[in-house]
Amino acid sequence: MAIEEVYRHPEDYDLEMAAHGMDDLPFWLNLLAREHPRRVLEVGCGTGRLTIPLARAGSGQGFHVTGMDAEGAMLRRARERAQCEPDTVRTALRLLPGDVRELRLHERFDVIVLPFGVAHHLLTLEEQLAAWRALHEHLAPGGLLAVEVNAPNLALLAQAADDGTPRTTDLDVWDAAHTRHLVRSVSTTYCPATQQALLAFSYQVCTAEGQCHSYDSQFAMHVYFPQEFGLLFTTTGFTLERLIGSYDDKPFDARSPVMIALARA
Ligand SMILES: C[S@@+](CC[C@H](N)C(=O)[O-])C[C@H]1O[C@@H](n2cnc3c(N)ncnc32)[C@H](O)[C@@H]1O
Repeated sequence: MAIEEVYRHPEDYDLEMAAHGMDDLPFWLNLLAREHPRRVLEVGCGTGRLTIPLARAGSGQGFHVTGMDAEGAMLRRARERAQCEPDTVRTALRLLPGDVRELRLHERFDVIVLPFGVAHHLLTLEEQLAAWRALHEHLAPGGLLAVEVNAPNLALLAQAADDGTPRTTDLDVWDAAHTRHLVRSVSTTYCPATQQALLAFSYQVCTAEGQCHSYDSQFAMHVYFPQEFGLLFTTTGFTLERLIGSYDDKPFDARSPVMIALARA
Protein backbone atom coordinates (compact mmCIF):
# COMPACT_ATOMS: atom_id res chain seq x y z
CA MET A 1 0.00 0.00 0.00
CA ALA A 2 1.50 3.34 -1.04
CA ILE A 3 1.37 5.64 1.96
CA GLU A 4 -0.31 8.98 1.53
CA GLU A 5 2.23 11.49 2.86
CA VAL A 6 -0.38 13.42 4.85
CA TYR A 7 -0.86 10.30 7.02
CA ARG A 8 2.70 10.95 8.25
CA HIS A 9 1.44 14.39 9.38
CA PRO A 10 -1.60 13.43 11.44
CA GLU A 11 -1.87 16.92 12.96
CA ASP A 12 -2.43 18.23 9.39
CA TYR A 13 -4.99 15.51 8.75
CA ASP A 14 -6.88 16.61 11.88
CA LEU A 15 -6.74 20.22 10.79
CA GLU A 16 -8.20 19.23 7.40
CA MET A 17 -11.00 17.31 9.09
CA ALA A 18 -11.79 20.25 11.39
CA ALA A 19 -11.87 22.56 8.37
CA HIS A 20 -14.25 20.24 6.50
CA GLY A 21 -16.68 20.51 9.45
CA MET A 22 -17.42 16.77 9.31
CA ASP A 23 -20.98 15.93 10.36
CA ASP A 24 -20.85 12.12 10.12
CA LEU A 25 -20.54 11.25 13.83
CA PRO A 26 -24.32 11.20 14.63
CA PHE A 27 -24.85 8.76 11.74
CA TRP A 28 -22.34 6.26 13.20
CA LEU A 29 -23.59 6.76 16.77
CA ASN A 30 -27.21 6.12 15.67
CA LEU A 31 -26.16 3.04 13.73
CA LEU A 32 -24.51 1.53 16.83
CA ALA A 33 -27.40 2.55 19.09
CA ARG A 34 -29.78 0.61 16.78
CA GLU A 35 -27.57 -2.49 16.63
CA HIS A 36 -26.91 -2.95 20.37
CA PRO A 37 -23.47 -4.51 19.70
CA ARG A 38 -21.03 -5.81 22.30
CA ARG A 39 -17.92 -5.68 20.10
CA VAL A 40 -17.31 -3.03 17.41
CA LEU A 41 -14.36 -2.82 15.00
CA GLU A 42 -13.52 0.38 13.14
CA VAL A 43 -11.13 -0.31 10.26
CA GLY A 44 -8.94 2.62 9.16
CA CYS A 45 -9.60 4.49 12.39
CA GLY A 46 -6.93 7.08 11.59
CA THR A 47 -6.37 9.60 14.38
CA GLY A 48 -9.43 8.41 16.29
CA ARG A 49 -11.68 11.21 15.02
CA LEU A 50 -14.71 8.88 15.20
CA THR A 51 -13.21 6.05 17.24
CA ILE A 52 -12.93 7.99 20.47
CA PRO A 53 -16.49 9.40 20.43
CA LEU A 54 -17.70 5.88 19.57
CA ALA A 55 -15.78 4.52 22.57
CA ARG A 56 -17.37 7.23 24.75
CA ALA A 57 -20.77 5.95 23.62
CA GLY A 58 -19.58 2.39 24.17
CA SER A 59 -18.61 3.11 27.77
CA GLY A 60 -22.20 4.25 28.42
CA GLN A 61 -24.04 1.69 26.29
CA GLY A 62 -21.93 -1.36 27.13
CA PHE A 63 -19.97 -2.00 23.95
CA HIS A 64 -16.23 -2.18 23.30
CA VAL A 65 -14.54 -0.46 20.34
CA THR A 66 -11.40 -1.70 18.56
CA GLY A 67 -9.80 0.84 16.21
CA MET A 68 -7.38 -0.53 13.64
CA ASP A 69 -5.17 1.32 11.15
CA ALA A 70 -2.28 0.53 8.82
CA GLU A 71 -0.39 3.80 9.43
CA GLY A 72 1.71 4.09 12.58
CA ALA A 73 1.69 7.90 12.81
CA MET A 74 -2.12 8.06 12.57
CA LEU A 75 -2.47 5.41 15.25
CA ARG A 76 0.03 7.19 17.54
CA ARG A 77 -2.08 10.33 17.30
CA ALA A 78 -5.20 8.30 18.17
CA ARG A 79 -3.38 6.88 21.22
CA GLU A 80 -2.33 10.36 22.37
CA ARG A 81 -5.94 11.50 22.11
CA ALA A 82 -7.15 8.45 24.01
CA GLN A 83 -4.79 9.30 26.89
CA CYS A 84 -6.92 12.37 27.59
CA GLU A 85 -10.07 10.26 28.08
CA PRO A 86 -11.39 9.04 31.45
CA ASP A 87 -10.66 5.43 32.52
CA THR A 88 -14.18 4.32 31.60
CA VAL A 89 -13.64 5.35 27.98
CA ARG A 90 -10.10 3.97 27.80
CA THR A 91 -11.29 0.57 29.00
CA ALA A 92 -13.95 0.59 26.24
CA LEU A 93 -11.25 1.20 23.61
CA ARG A 94 -8.38 -0.69 22.01
CA LEU A 95 -6.15 0.63 19.20
CA LEU A 96 -4.29 -1.85 17.01
CA PRO A 97 -2.02 -1.72 13.95
CA GLY A 98 -3.24 -3.77 11.02
CA ASP A 99 -4.00 -3.96 7.33
CA VAL A 100 -7.57 -4.83 6.39
CA ARG A 101 -6.36 -6.96 3.47
CA GLU A 102 -4.57 -9.27 5.92
CA LEU A 103 -6.82 -8.94 8.95
CA ARG A 104 -6.17 -11.72 11.46
CA LEU A 105 -7.50 -10.69 14.86
CA HIS A 106 -8.72 -14.19 15.85
CA GLU A 107 -12.00 -12.77 17.12
CA ARG A 108 -15.39 -11.80 15.75
CA PHE A 109 -17.29 -8.53 16.04
CA ASP A 110 -20.98 -7.67 16.05
CA VAL A 111 -20.44 -4.56 13.92
CA ILE A 112 -17.53 -3.56 11.65
CA VAL A 113 -17.42 -0.05 10.19
CA LEU A 114 -15.21 1.53 7.51
CA PRO A 115 -16.19 5.22 7.63
CA PHE A 116 -15.01 8.07 5.45
CA GLY A 117 -13.48 6.44 2.41
CA VAL A 118 -11.05 3.92 3.91
CA ALA A 119 -12.00 1.46 1.14
CA HIS A 120 -10.86 3.91 -1.57
CA HIS A 121 -7.31 2.88 -0.64
CA LEU A 122 -7.98 -0.64 -1.96
CA LEU A 123 -6.94 -0.10 -5.56
CA THR A 124 -7.47 -3.45 -7.25
CA LEU A 125 -10.25 -6.02 -7.32
CA GLU A 126 -7.85 -8.51 -5.67
CA GLU A 127 -7.23 -6.14 -2.77
CA GLN A 128 -10.94 -5.39 -2.42
CA LEU A 129 -11.94 -9.06 -2.43
CA ALA A 130 -9.20 -9.91 0.08
CA ALA A 131 -10.44 -7.13 2.38
CA TRP A 132 -14.16 -7.98 2.05
CA ARG A 133 -13.46 -11.69 2.70
CA ALA A 134 -11.35 -10.87 5.75
CA LEU A 135 -14.12 -8.61 7.06
CA HIS A 136 -16.64 -11.42 6.61
CA GLU A 137 -14.42 -13.77 8.62
CA HIS A 138 -14.28 -11.23 11.46
CA LEU A 139 -18.04 -10.77 11.79
CA ALA A 140 -20.25 -12.81 14.10
CA PRO A 141 -23.10 -14.59 12.26
CA GLY A 142 -25.71 -11.93 11.45
CA GLY A 143 -23.21 -9.19 12.27
CA LEU A 144 -23.31 -5.87 10.39
CA LEU A 145 -20.69 -4.45 8.02
CA ALA A 146 -21.00 -0.75 7.12
CA VAL A 147 -18.70 0.66 4.41
CA GLU A 148 -18.75 4.30 3.32
CA VAL A 149 -17.23 5.55 0.06
CA ASN A 150 -17.72 8.68 -2.04
CA ALA A 151 -20.30 8.45 -4.79
CA PRO A 152 -18.69 8.92 -8.23
CA ASN A 153 -18.78 12.55 -9.36
CA LEU A 154 -19.11 12.09 -13.11
CA ALA A 155 -18.54 15.74 -14.05
CA LEU A 156 -15.30 15.84 -12.05
CA LEU A 157 -14.15 12.45 -13.35
CA ALA A 158 -14.80 13.50 -16.99
CA GLN A 159 -12.67 16.60 -16.54
CA ALA A 160 -9.99 14.63 -14.65
CA ALA A 161 -9.91 11.99 -17.40
CA ASP A 162 -9.23 14.55 -20.13
CA ASP A 163 -6.41 16.85 -19.06
CA GLY A 164 -6.66 16.59 -15.30
CA THR A 165 -8.39 19.28 -13.24
CA PRO A 166 -6.56 22.61 -12.92
CA ARG A 167 -4.62 22.94 -9.66
CA THR A 168 -6.77 24.88 -7.19
CA THR A 169 -6.39 25.85 -3.55
CA ASP A 170 -9.13 23.95 -1.75
CA LEU A 171 -8.16 24.61 1.90
CA ASP A 172 -6.75 27.67 3.65
CA VAL A 173 -7.19 27.31 7.41
CA TRP A 174 -5.74 28.16 10.81
CA ASP A 175 -5.97 25.75 13.73
CA ALA A 176 -8.24 26.67 16.65
CA ALA A 177 -5.33 28.09 18.71
CA HIS A 178 -4.20 30.18 15.69
CA THR A 179 -0.71 28.68 15.84
CA ARG A 180 -0.63 26.75 12.53
CA HIS A 181 -1.78 27.81 9.09
CA LEU A 182 -2.39 25.15 6.42
CA VAL A 183 -2.84 25.84 2.72
CA ARG A 184 -3.65 22.90 0.46
CA SER A 185 -3.98 22.71 -3.31
CA VAL A 186 -5.07 19.76 -5.45
CA SER A 187 -5.16 18.58 -9.03
CA THR A 188 -6.98 15.35 -10.00
CA THR A 189 -6.41 12.93 -12.86
CA TYR A 190 -8.57 9.89 -13.56
CA CYS A 191 -7.99 6.72 -15.57
CA PRO A 192 -11.38 5.27 -16.69
CA ALA A 193 -9.75 1.94 -17.63
CA THR A 194 -8.60 1.19 -14.07
CA GLN A 195 -11.19 3.36 -12.23
CA GLN A 196 -8.33 4.99 -10.37
CA ALA A 197 -8.23 8.68 -9.55
CA LEU A 198 -5.00 10.34 -8.48
CA LEU A 199 -5.42 13.37 -6.23
CA ALA A 200 -2.10 15.21 -6.21
CA PHE A 201 -2.17 17.39 -3.08
CA SER A 202 0.42 20.02 -2.15
CA TYR A 203 0.61 21.29 1.42
CA GLN A 204 2.21 24.37 2.91
CA VAL A 205 2.10 24.61 6.70
CA CYS A 206 3.30 27.74 8.53
CA THR A 207 3.58 28.68 12.18
CA ALA A 208 2.29 32.01 13.50
CA GLU A 209 5.98 33.07 13.55
CA GLY A 210 6.18 32.49 9.80
CA GLN A 211 8.22 29.23 9.74
CA CYS A 212 6.92 27.14 6.84
CA HIS A 213 7.37 23.69 5.38
CA SER A 214 5.86 22.14 2.27
CA TYR A 215 5.21 18.63 1.06
CA ASP A 216 3.28 16.74 -1.60
CA SER A 217 0.85 13.92 -0.88
CA GLN A 218 -0.58 11.63 -3.57
CA PHE A 219 -3.92 9.98 -2.88
CA ALA A 220 -4.51 7.15 -5.35
CA MET A 221 -8.14 6.12 -4.94
CA HIS A 222 -10.35 3.49 -6.47
CA VAL A 223 -13.62 4.99 -7.72
CA TYR A 224 -16.54 2.70 -6.85
CA PHE A 225 -19.69 2.61 -8.97
CA PRO A 226 -22.94 1.62 -7.24
CA GLN A 227 -23.55 -1.80 -8.84
CA GLU A 228 -19.92 -2.84 -8.49
CA PHE A 229 -19.94 -1.71 -4.86
CA GLY A 230 -22.98 -3.91 -4.14
CA LEU A 231 -21.40 -6.88 -5.92
CA LEU A 232 -18.38 -6.78 -3.62
CA PHE A 233 -20.70 -7.63 -0.72
CA THR A 234 -22.83 -10.26 -2.42
CA THR A 235 -19.85 -12.12 -3.94
CA THR A 236 -18.10 -12.37 -0.57
CA GLY A 237 -21.01 -13.89 1.36
CA PHE A 238 -22.84 -10.81 2.66
CA THR A 239 -26.50 -9.98 2.33
CA LEU A 240 -26.82 -6.37 1.26
CA GLU A 241 -29.46 -4.67 3.43
CA ARG A 242 -29.42 -1.02 2.40
CA LEU A 243 -27.49 1.49 0.33
CA ILE A 244 -27.62 4.88 2.06
CA GLY A 245 -26.71 8.15 0.32
CA SER A 246 -26.22 10.69 3.11
CA TYR A 247 -25.54 11.02 6.83
CA ASP A 248 -29.24 11.76 7.43
CA ASP A 249 -29.92 8.16 6.44
CA LYS A 250 -31.62 8.85 3.08
CA PRO A 251 -31.55 6.04 0.47
CA PHE A 252 -28.82 6.35 -2.17
CA ASP A 253 -29.91 8.12 -5.37
CA ALA A 254 -28.35 9.85 -8.39
CA ARG A 255 -27.50 13.00 -6.40
CA SER A 256 -26.15 11.37 -3.25
CA PRO A 257 -22.66 12.51 -2.19
CA VAL A 258 -21.73 9.21 -0.51
CA MET A 259 -22.57 5.51 -0.68
CA ILE A 260 -22.88 3.77 2.69
CA ALA A 261 -23.61 0.07 2.31
CA LEU A 262 -25.06 -1.90 5.23
CA ALA A 263 -24.67 -5.67 4.86
CA ARG A 264 -25.10 -8.73 7.08
CA ALA A 265 -22.69 -11.63 7.42
C1 LIG B 1 -9.45 8.96 4.97
S1 LIG B 1 -8.65 8.28 6.36
C2 LIG B 1 -10.05 8.00 7.42
C3 LIG B 1 -9.65 7.98 8.88
C4 LIG B 1 -10.83 7.92 9.85
N1 LIG B 1 -11.69 6.77 9.58
C5 LIG B 1 -11.65 9.19 9.79
O1 LIG B 1 -12.83 9.10 9.48
O2 LIG B 1 -11.12 10.27 10.08
C6 LIG B 1 -8.27 6.64 5.82
C7 LIG B 1 -7.53 5.81 6.86
O3 LIG B 1 -7.47 4.46 6.37
C8 LIG B 1 -6.20 3.92 6.68
N2 LIG B 1 -5.93 2.82 5.75
C9 LIG B 1 -5.66 2.89 4.44
N3 LIG B 1 -5.47 1.67 3.91
C10 LIG B 1 -5.64 0.79 4.94
C11 LIG B 1 -5.57 -0.63 5.03
N4 LIG B 1 -5.28 -1.39 3.96
N5 LIG B 1 -5.80 -1.22 6.22
C12 LIG B 1 -6.09 -0.45 7.32
N6 LIG B 1 -6.14 0.90 7.29
C13 LIG B 1 -5.93 1.52 6.11
C14 LIG B 1 -5.25 5.11 6.52
O4 LIG B 1 -4.04 4.90 7.19
C15 LIG B 1 -6.09 6.25 7.08
O5 LIG B 1 -5.87 6.41 8.47
